[in-house]
Parts: sequence; C-alpha cells; structure tokens
Amino acid sequence: MSSTIAYIIIGISVLFILGIKLLASPKTARLGNLVAAGGMLIALISLHQPNGDYVWSQGWTFNYTLIVIGTLIGLVIGAIGAYSVKMTAMPQMVALFNGLGGGAAALVASLEFINIRSDAELTAVIAVPMLFATLIGSLSFSGSVIAYLKLEGKFEKPMTFPGQNLFNGLILVVILGLAIFLGGHVNTPAFIGLFVLALFFGVAMVMPIGGADMPVVISLLNSFTGLAVAADGFAIHNNAMIVAGTLVGSSGTLLTLLMCHAMNRPVSNVLFGAFGSGGAAAGGAAGDLAGKTVKPIQADEVAVLLAYAQQVVIVPGYGMAVAQAQHQVRELSDELGKRGVEVRFAIHPVAGRMPGHMNVLLAEANVPYDQLCEMEAINPTMDRVDVCLVIGANDVVNPAAREDKSSPIYGMPIIDADHAKTVIVMKRSMAAGFAGIENLLFYKDNTRMLFGDAKASLNALVAQVKAS
Ligand code: TAP
Repeated sequence: MSSTIAYIIIGISVLFILGIKLLASPKTARLGNLVAAGGMLIALISLHQPNGDYVWSQGWTFNYTLIVIGTLIGLVIGAIGAYSVKMTAMPQMVALFNGLGGGAAALVASLEFINIRSDAELTAVIAVPMLFATLIGSLSFSGSVIAYLKLEGKFEKPMTFPGQNLFNGLILVVILGLAIFLGGHVNTPAFIGLFVLALFFGVAMVMPIGGADMPVVISLLNSFTGLAVAADGFAIHNNAMIVAGTLVGSSGTLLTLLMCHAMNRPVSNVLFGAFGSGGAAAGGAAGDLAGKTVKPIQADEVAVLLAYAQQVVIVPGYGMAVAQAQHQVRELSDELGKRGVEVRFAIHPVAGRMPGHMNVLLAEANVPYDQLCEMEAINPTMDRVDVCLVIGANDVVNPAAREDKSSPIYGMPIIDADHAKTVIVMKRSMAAGFAGIENLLFYKDNTRMLFGDAKASLNALVAQVKAS
C-alpha cells in the first residue's frame, strides 16, 4: 500500500470518527452527518484496485460510470426518503436503509464468491470473509425488512410457536454446516442454499420479537450490516470498507448494549424473550396495590400549581409522541418561563420507542437544548422540584424499578419523578405502558392524575395558565 493511500485511509477514518462524535449532540448532529458523508465521498472517488491504482487514475472506465450512476440513484432515493418521512416513521426508514446496506454487502460477497473458479483458489483468507459477509448481510437484509413491517404495524404480536428457539437453532446449524463445506469447495447450489437459508434465518429471528423491541433489533442488525461490510472490505481488499464497516459494527453493538442496559434487560431477553406477548411482563406490584386508589385532578387546578411553582420538571414519554403534543409542551414551557418558573425536561434514554425519540420531537418543537437534562443529571435534583409533569410516560417513571423486586423492570434506571413535591401524570386511562405492568407512581400520596389525550390536556393547561 503506497503512503498516499495510507494517508487517504487515515483521513477517511478520521472523518468517519469525527462524524460519529458530532452526531452525539443535537446541536452538532447535522454537521456530523455532513462530515461523515464527506468521508464517504472521498472513499468513493479514491477507491483503489488491489494493484494500488486509484479509480481516477484509470480514466473514465466502465466501473467509474457505474459508481456515478449508483451514487446519483442513491442520492435521489435518500433525499426523497429523508424529506418525505415523518419524524415518527424514522425507525422504519432506518430499518429499511440498514436492510439495503446488508443486502448490498451480501451481494458484493456473493458475486466475488461465484467468480472463484476452482477449489485451489479458495483459501481461508478469501473464503471466510466472503461467506461471513454473505451470511450476515443477507440475514440483516431480511431481518430489517421484517423489522420495517413490524414497525409499520403489519404484525401486531410477536409470532411464536413451541420449540421455536430449537427450530431456529437447527437452521443455524445447517447454515454453519454449509459454510464449513463451502470453505473448501466451490459449489454454486450449496452457496445458493446458504444464501436462501440466511435470508430465512433473518425472518425467523425477528418474527418472534415484539414490535416495541424493534429499535433494539434494528440497532443489532445495523451492527451486523457493519460487520458484513467490513468482511467485504477484507474480501475485496478495500480498506475504507473495513474502517467504515468496523465503525458501524462497533457503534451498533454499543448502542444495542446501552439500550438493553437502560431497559435492564439482557440482549438475550430481547432476542428470545418475546417481550410484549403477554407472559414476560406479567406479575409485578398489582397485589400491593389492593385497596389503593388514584386521585384525579382537573386542568385548572394543575394550572394553578404550575403557575405558582418555582421549579417544574417535564418528563415526556411515548404518549407525548402518540399525541404529537410536543408543540403544546413547548408552548406551556414558554408560558411558565415568562412567569419566572424554571422549566427543565428530564429525558430518559429509552423513553418512547426509539433512541433519541424525545430529543427529536422536542427539537422539532424548538425546545432549547439547554432545557433538556439527562436522567443522571436531573435525578439528584428531583427533591427540590415543585411540580413534575409526566406527559405520556409510564415505565420510565415507575418506582417499581426501585422498590419491587418481583417486578419485571426491577433494576431498570428510572427518572425519580416521585421525589418531586407534587407529581401530575397525564395519560388517557389506567392502561399500562410497554412493560405491561402497574405503575406504583400513580398511587403515591403526592401524585395526581390528569386524564385525557396529552394534546387536549396541554391545550387546556396552556389556556388556563395564560388566564391565571
Ligand atoms: P410507556 O411506558 O410505553 O407508556 C406510554 C404511556 O403513554 C401509556 O401508559 C399510555 O397510557 C400513554 N399514552 C398513549 N397515548 C397517549 C395520548 N394520546 N395521550 C396521553 N397519554 C398517552 O412509555 P415510556 O414511559 O416512554 O417508556 C418507554 C418504554 O418502551 C419502556 O418500557 C422502554 O423499555 C420501552 N422501549 C423503548 C425503546 C427505546 S429505544 N426508546 C425501545 C424498546 C422498548 P394511556 O393508554 O392510558 O393513555
């Protein structure tokens, strides 16, 4: 590898890493996207052949034309998708784009494999990355398509049957057997068999998983796609693909682990637990609540509490996203701010149904970033808060996570809403949240329930605060 190519690879790697770093804050996320895209553009135009020649040094070749056509098609589809997708449909779009990446990685490896003419050419260094990329890329493709369909609401419940894990395990054994055989033999029918079984395995793996767990699954499949791309890079001697694939693989794995940690569930529980099918979330604190009642409150009473408070913390959750009430939340926060009330937003890492769900919605409503506080930062201050307004959040404020060892969410980090002097919970009914369990917060002495759709309740609150 010439030193020029080494410098280009290092430059591209720095741009990718910088891009990911900038994506970590809503303030710099757009710039991060541009920086990483810049790295990808340089990678595209500086792609080199195994003999060390750059693409550009070979004139206007057939390959170069194809690259330009492919880039233009990708740009148009990406731009249309990005401009037309609704904020709430973002996870679906990520699933679909991730699936296409996995499928592309599998096709690249497959074409390379099919082009191998004799068993003698098939060394382990060539066979292992090609077979790995084909297997992981195709299961990532089909799994992502199922994840997309689940998020679109096409399959309501996790699809399970007795012996499912054993059945999936058997498919995996057959796939691994085929991969071992293909490691030493060029055999197109066996290769097609491996490809088709890997596609089927992607479907079988995601089908039993509950729709609300899809963000975790997509993040995992995202890391699979990254690993498939990195393996492609080894197979076709492309260093930029190795760097980009490894970065995607490792960041996807980290995000998966972080989400599971925030839900206090092992990855195995997400993949094999069929959470949301009824059984997993049963139990909890229902027995302890016998005889206890909740205390409803009206919007005008809440408005008085808010208007005379010094410190208010708003905890948004999935219900705010369902009600699309983020603009009303911003209006209420502004109104209170005008009256000298200090308003902060407590953001739980898995509030809603996708990573950063609340940040995205509040950013759309132009809530200033400095009002958003992470759970670890806000919890120690909750004792001093006059009113904690819980808007469509449920599991992420459930004290059962701290108090009830029998609860399925015991140990999950939560926002300590119950530590505030008064807690107002806004939701439509006594229905459970994602975990399907009773919420001890609703029955606490300092909690009042403001029942109704979050948007309608907030509209009433804003009007009452303005009038008070
Ligand atoms: P949830 O616990 O799911 O509760 C949402 C609440 O919103 C429900 O209890 C519902 O009660 C209420 N709601 C729904 N529509 C509403 C509306 N129009 N107006 C007012 N309220 C409404 O939400 P959360 O506290 O945000 O917790 C998120 C859950 O999802 C956690 O268990 C988490 O582990 C899980 N999860 C999250 C992710 C990510 S990455 N965020 C991924 C997978 C799973 P009503 O029906 O009574 O109104």
